[in-house]
Amino acid sequence: MTKNILIVPGDGIGQEVTAVGKKVLDKIAAKFGHTFTYDEALIGHVAIEATGNPLPDETLAKMKKSDAILFGAVGHPKYDNDPTAKVRPEQGLLKMRKELGLYANLRPIKLFDELLSASSIKPEVLKGADILFFRELTGDIYFGEKGRKNNGDTAFDLAEYSRYEVERIARKAFEAARTRRKKLCSVDKANVLETSRLWREVVQKTALDYPDIEVEHQFVDAAAMILIKDPRRFDVVVTANLFGDILTDEASQIAGSMGMLASASIGDGTGVYEPIHGSAHDITGKGLANPLASVLSAALLLDISFGMKAESEAIINAVDKVLKAGFRTRDIADAQTPADKVLGTDAMGEEALKNL
Ligand code: IPM
Ligand code: MG
Repeated sequence: MTKNILIVPGDGIGQEVTAVGKKVLDKIAAKFGHTFTYDEALIGHVAIEATGNPLPDETLAKMKKSDAILFGAVGHPKYDNDPTAKVRPEQGLLKMRKELGLYANLRPIKLFDELLSASSIKPEVLKGADILFFRELTGDIYFGEKGRKNNGDTAFDLAEYSRYEVERIARKAFEAARTRRKKLCSVDKANVLETSRLWREVVQKTALDYPDIEVEHQFVDAAAMILIKDPRRFDVVVTANLFGDILTDEASQIAGSMGMLASASIGDGTGVYEPIHGSAHDITGKGLANPLASVLSAALLLDISFGMKAESEAIINAVDKVLKAGFRTRDIADAQTPADKVLGTDAMGEEALKNL
């Protein structure tokens, strides 16, 4: 197949890790006889520096024409403690999600057995945990009206959901549950929020079309607790934008490190594939970042956007072999890891390539 992939490294370690993800894509192309062509574009802080805009029109145009996007991260610490900044890197990310209609964010949480001890949760609680999150990505409090009143002394963010927005993500989650253990947990706060009551009503109604799926509803506070207490209880989890943001960071600890987790954002058009970790400016440029989340994002890209199952599995197997051989980046190493097995970003990428 011939495919055009847009690389959007963004900020911080996004640059370093997408470079490794791209090398893996190249190796797959060579091995399986595909032709991947690449273009690159700016987003986030680097785009603000170059153009004043966190999502330049040129980037958006390239995104819309590409077959898939390998994405890095956005963010810069200089904005985090400046609540008055009008232009922020994250605006680029949110606008991209809206403009590309990326309403479903898939975050698979799967623990490689070799990393059982890298998690702060007990191995016997974790072993076998395998959760697929569907986080709604273009609605909720993220995109509702926001502002100030009372001379700036009162602030508000409006959370809004429409029936069709809940139904389309619920259907994606039900379909995925059919290919897995046939369990779906919908997470909301229906005891308090009207948006959650609509959410639950729509999920219950949609469930009638999937009688083969066992459905449960949990309030978000309880779900946060169960994730740590008994993560194996979950198969597919579907939830709103803000709850999904928080729960998936929590769930990343089940996989040992955020440095291991990939995500896919899909919807109406081009899909975006990215690590769930952020720009990590504290380690940027030091060659310490774990590139495996970007490598696994490339695997998701091939599987979901191009239907290349064997190619995707080849990447996952390569990562598995590297871990089995004992190689670790700093974030997933522990006291037992010999010093010569602790690798930097590029060396870890080389190990993954060797095993492809
Ligand atoms: C994520 C991130 C973003 C979000 C930030 C950077 C705006 O935390 O993708 O989970 O909140 O969606
Ligand atoms: Mg987040």
